[in-house]
Amino acid sequence: MSNAAAPATEGPDRSDAPAHVAIIMDGNGRWAAARGLPRAEGHRRGVEALRRVVRASHELGIRYLTIFSFSSENWSRPASEIGDLFGLLRRFIRNDLASLHRDGVKVRIIGERDGLEGDIRELLNEAEELTRGNTRLTLVVAFNYGSRQEIAKAAQKLAREVAEGRRDPDTIDAETLGGHLDAPDIPDPDLIIRTSGEQRLSNFLMWQAAYSELVFVPIHWPDFDKAALEGAIAEFARRERRFGGLVAKTAS
Ligand code: IPE
Ligand code: IPE
Ligand code: MG
Repeated sequence: MSNAAAPATEGPDRSDAPAHVAIIMDGNGRWAAARGLPRAEGHRRGVEALRRVVRASHELGIRYLTIFSFSSENWSRPASEIGDLFGLLRRFIRNDLASLHRDGVKVRIIGERDGLEGDIRELLNEAEELTRGNTRLTLVVAFNYGSRQEIAKAAQKLAREVAEGRRDPDTIDAETLGGHLDAPDIPDPDLIIRTSGEQRLSNFLMWQAAYSELVFVPIHWPDFDKAALEGAIAEFARRERRFGGLVAKTAS
């Protein structure tokens, strides 16, 4: 499937889409097991689902799409599976970067890059550099990402500023800490979707999710498509967001 089918000038066909959708792409292994296939095949089909969803996001007028592709805790999987997942990321960037760029997608990476192999770091940097000026859809890839680690790193940066005499500790508030996270310019997700029926965050965007609407869908990630995304958005649109106040704001 090619993203080239969606011309970069095409406008959104829905105005009620949430600005920022974040997805915990879960269930690749169970999708494969249910078909007697190796887990790697589930991950491979998961990349195809990702291509579909990036294209659907364009079409639905979503501005920011964040995807959880490898967690800090996924290092506890067998080395062969980690190798498969890293191989897929390499191939995704090598094969899809040009078409993402052509479609006006800006790629951003969150997570810990230190400790990753040099060629992966270079690919991640290249994806961000090439697409820096794009404005149509921002695709945030959470790779080697953990929310606790991200918050701890922000605390470390602030502690260093204080230790070096550049910051008064009294100036540290929620906004300051949020401003030291990995992508402080990107608005918090309006909608977080998790596939495969699990109902937890698994260390994903815990700070940013403070007022996100959470939608859990039973299908496994390789089966996720535009219709499933539209279903989650319809559920989001039925929610009342109050942000601690009394006046309900429509979800979109
Ligand atoms: C999601 O699918 C992919 C990653 C976590 C990298 P899983 O590999 O977690 O699939 P299940 O949950 O075992 O079915
Ligand atoms: C979360 O899924 C991580 C990604 C989707 C990359 P996991 O499959 O790792 O989460 P748990 O272990 O079931 O909580
Ligand atoms: Mg899983």
